[in-house]
Amino acid sequence: MKVFINKRIPEIGIQMLEESGLEIIFPENENLSHDEWLKYCQNADVILNVGQQKYDKEFFDECPNIKAIALFSVGFDSVDIEQANQRKIPIGNTPDVLSRATSDIAFLLMQSVARRASYNFQKVKDDNWGDFDPLHALGQELYGKTLGIFGLGRIGFEMAEKCKKAFDMNIIYHNRSHNEEAEKELGAKYVSFEELIAQSDVLSVHANFKAEQNELFNSSVFEKMKSNSIFINTARGGFHNQADLYNALIEKKIWGAGLDVTNPEPILHDDPILELSNVCVLPHIGSATVEARNGMAKSAAENIIAFSRREKMPHCANP
Ligand code: DGY
Repeated sequence: MKVFINKRIPEIGIQMLEESGLEIIFPENENLSHDEWLKYCQNADVILNVGQQKYDKEFFDECPNIKAIALFSVGFDSVDIEQANQRKIPIGNTPDVLSRATSDIAFLLMQSVARRASYNFQKVKDDNWGDFDPLHALGQELYGKTLGIFGLGRIGFEMAEKCKKAFDMNIIYHNRSHNEEAEKELGAKYVSFEELIAQSDVLSVHANFKAEQNELFNSSVFEKMKSNSIFINTARGGFHNQADLYNALIEKKIWGAGLDVTNPEPILHDDPILELSNVCVLPHIGSATVEARNGMAKSAAENIIAFSRREKMPHCANP
């Protein structure tokens, strides 16, 4: 069985695949054009995919030999699951192993924005340390404030738990269904979407992205948020309308924003949001720790090995 891996992943994953007797194909050059990438896919049975390549009807029509795809990510919004189902192609993903790292980034962004880290870091870089000023560069404390989680799954739970432990924040959440563990362990309260946006001091997005949620967080939402609130998105850039977010920030409808994902992604170099001192932007590094990436490599390999043995993938995005 030929496994095409489009980018180097941590060695543990490669080793597991090799020890299972699978043939691994790496591209000679990792910066493939779409056509070159497609050729590799056409010659493979299984793809271990790193990145946001689209797996849609067109792809499946052009690569009829593909039997399984193992994503090197928890998110599977890059795949048309309906199409994969029709062709009985299992889509593996890598949940759990990156929940801690990704929620750490949400937590870091929340604090960076609350304490105005970008603004102050820029001052230092500009050789503008300044005198101690009792009224300047003041942030806000998070103790006892309300954290709103949109999408309380594994990553959202970890974020809520950190915020509870560190700042005794009140947790409210909006989700497809109730999260009983969070309600019991963290006192989290289920609220409607309208209540979530109106009551949150920090609103952190952690849901799986679906096309119908495109730009759900737009001007009509930012309008209803508290003026001291902080918007955090570490899930998918498609959840927010970036121009609306920019306007909400300059019109002081909300207080600040922390983004590990942008819309579009990568962010355009002249996006005006980058000029704002109340914004912190990171380049989609939620899972970028040695521990999480090793875990992702292992999970992706486990998915492929299970498939090669005609077993169900341990982490499969298809219903
Ligand atoms: C994930 O695992 O979904 C990360 O966002 C990387 O795509």
